[in-house]
Amino acid sequence: MDQPQPPGTPDPSGPRPSRKTVLRAALAAGVALPTALMGVPALARTARDSDVPPQLTPSCDDGDDPTPAQTEGPYFKPNSPRRTSLLDGNPPGTRLTVTGYVFGLACRPIANALLDFWQADVNGAYDNTGFRFRGHQFTDAQGAFTLTTIVPGLYPGRTRHIHVKVQAPNRPVLTTQLYFPNEPRNNTDSIFDARLLMTMRTNGPAREGSYDFVLNVPQGPGPTDPPTTPPPSGTWRAGTAYKAGDGVTYGGRSWVCLQAHTASAGWEPPNVPALWRAA
Ligand SMILES: [Fe+2]
Repeated sequence: MDQPQPPGTPDPSGPRPSRKTVLRAALAAGVALPTALMGVPALARTARDSDVPPQLTPSCDDGDDPTPAQTEGPYFKPNSPRRTSLLDGNPPGTRLTVTGYVFGLACRPIANALLDFWQADVNGAYDNTGFRFRGHQFTDAQGAFTLTTIVPGLYPGRTRHIHVKVQAPNRPVLTTQLYFPNEPRNNTDSIFDARLLMTMRTNGPAREGSYDFVLNVPQGPGPTDPPTTPPPSGTWRAGTAYKAGDGVTYGGRSWVCLQAHTASAGWEPPNVPALWRAA
């Protein structure tokens, strides 16, 4: 276990603030997105919520390596519930909040990106019959997400981790895992990748982690670059509230809704296997 730390203390062994981290701070501080995202330098990392001294802020104009993929493992289940909190019924375990952004290659945030999380419980067990500690959500208009959960328990053969699938509208799924700094097993887990370490800090009895995903999504130079979608064909319509079992046609095929949602552009049936299956 980590040594107790006063609230708000950054983890000294965590990854150094990256360009994305700084951009994330600028976003969190409410800096206008077009300015922050067009690479204007000298946005200082905010110290508002921590004791981290201001850092020089590199520009965000040279793209970035996408977040590396990792094995899905044996415990993924499709059709997780849509929710940002995985705390069903006050489960035991240290409370953990994971926040971050989903970016494209030009470090611009991606709205409506799907994040599907799954993890072990405090004892290191996955729920393979129900959906405990499983849930999906979408990034907001600023590309941000928040996951409320517990610190996952350890199980044989692995270090501590959280699984996630991340998908921008109309783009392939990135399957990867997030890791915790200062875990003894990080050094012996052959799957562990330091590029996937969250930045952690302790806040009272709870832990707070942050991680920004970079998807392999080209982005143009403009301040906004909504993904283009093909014109709808069939009966599927953005803005329609579908419930599980509803049927639509799209792109010449029939589809069945897997879970209730309100359709939006970019989430046409072929693009969101969590929401639609081919009939
Ligand atoms: Fe796992």
